[in-house]
Amino acid sequence: MSKRKAPQESLNEGITDFLIELANYERNVNRAIHKYNAYRKAASVIAKYPEKIKNGTEAKKLDGVGAKIAEKIDEFLTTGKLRKIEKIRNDDTSSSITFLTRVTGIGPAAARKFFEDGVKTLDDLKKIEHKLNHHQQIGLKYFEDFEKRIPRAEMEKMEALILAELETLDPEYIGTICGSYRRGAASSGDIDILLTHPDFTSESEKQPKLLHAVVEHLESAGFITETLSKGDTKFMGVCQLAPGEEEEEEEHFHRRIDIRLIPKDQYYCGVLYFTGSDIFNKNMRTHALEKGFTLNEYTIRPLGVTGMAGEPLPVDSEKDIFDYIQWKYREPKERSE
Ligand code: TTP
Ligand code: MG
Repeated sequence: MSKRKAPQESLNEGITDFLIELANYERNVNRAIHKYNAYRKAASVIAKYPEKIKNGTEAKKLDGVGAKIAEKIDEFLTTGKLRKIEKIRNDDTSSSITFLTRVTGIGPAAARKFFEDGVKTLDDLKKIEHKLNHHQQIGLKYFEDFEKRIPRAEMEKMEALILAELETLDPEYIGTICGSYRRGAASSGDIDILLTHPDFTSESEKQPKLLHAVVEHLESAGFITETLSKGDTKFMGVCQLAPGEEEEEEEHFHRRIDIRLIPKDQYYCGVLYFTGSDIFNKNMRTHALEKGFTLNEYTIRPLGVTGMAGEPLPVDSEKDIFDYIQWKYREPKERSE
C-alpha cells in the first residue's frame, strides 16, 4: 500500500484537498477508519463532479456528502479556510503523528508511541535509528525517495523488466502490475504485482518457492535492492531501475514494491481487488451483496437464504465476477469509484 495518494485534480480541488487532509487525520491520528472512509468517499465523488461547487447544499445532493461535510464546504467557500484544518495543523500531536506515519513501517499506533517518547521529526528518528525495526530503518533511509510518485513512463519500464524476467524464469508464470498503474494513472505511489502459476491452486500445497524464486531472480538482476518482509505468499521490498542508455540519464529513485503470490483459482478476484480503487472495491462489494454474493480479495461466493456463504464460484477472468453480479464490465481505467 502506498502512503502518498496522488492529489485530486478537479474544479473543486480546494474542497477535495481539505477532505483528504481530514481523511488522513482521522486514520492516522484518531484511528477512526470509518471517518477516513467517509471523507475519502466524499472527496472522490466531488472530484468527479463536472461543475464548480457553489455551496454545501449543492454538494449535499451527491451520494456520500452528508450534512456535516456540507457544512464544512460552506465554511470553506465563504471564508476560504477551515477552522478544523487550521487547528489540526497547529496541533503538535496531530502534525507530528501525521508526519511520522509518512515513514513506511510506521503505522498510526507506532507513530503515537514514538510521539509519546518525544520522537517527532526525521532528525529525532535518526537519533534512535537503532530502536527502529528493519522495515522502519529502510523507510527512514529512503524517506525522500518514497515520498516521490513514480511517473507512468518509469512504471512502464519496470513492468517490461519484471514481465521479461518472469518469462525467462518460467514462461508459465502469470504476472500483473495492479494498483493505480493498471487504472491508467499518470503516476503511482508504489508497484503492486500479483503473481500466479498453474501449479499453485487453493487445493494444492503452499508453494513459497514460486514467490521466492522470482524475488531472488529480481535481486540478481539488480532490480530488487532491499527486503522489508518476505513470507510464503507476500514479499514487500524496495527496487530501483538502472539508469538508461542515454548519457545524461540520471539514477532512478528507490521505489516500494509488493509482490503477492496468489493461487490460480483466486487470481482474478485478487487482480480485481488490487487494481482498486479502494472506493470502487467497496461499491462493487455492496452491489455484490445486493445481488446475493459475497466478494473479497480471494473469492466470490453465493449467499444462501440464511445469509451463509456457499462454495467459491469458478472465476477465469475479471469479467466472470462482473457477470455473476450482473454488473456491466468496467475497464480498469473506469474504476476510480
Ligand atoms: P495502493 O497501492 O495503496 O493504492 P493505489 O495503487 O490505488 O494507489 P497509489 O498510486 O497511491 O499506490 O493499494 C493497491 C490497491 O489495493 C488499491 O487500488 C485497492 C486495494 N486496496 C483496498 O481495496 N483497500 C485498502 O485499504 C488498500 C490499502 C488497498
Ligand atoms: Mg499502489
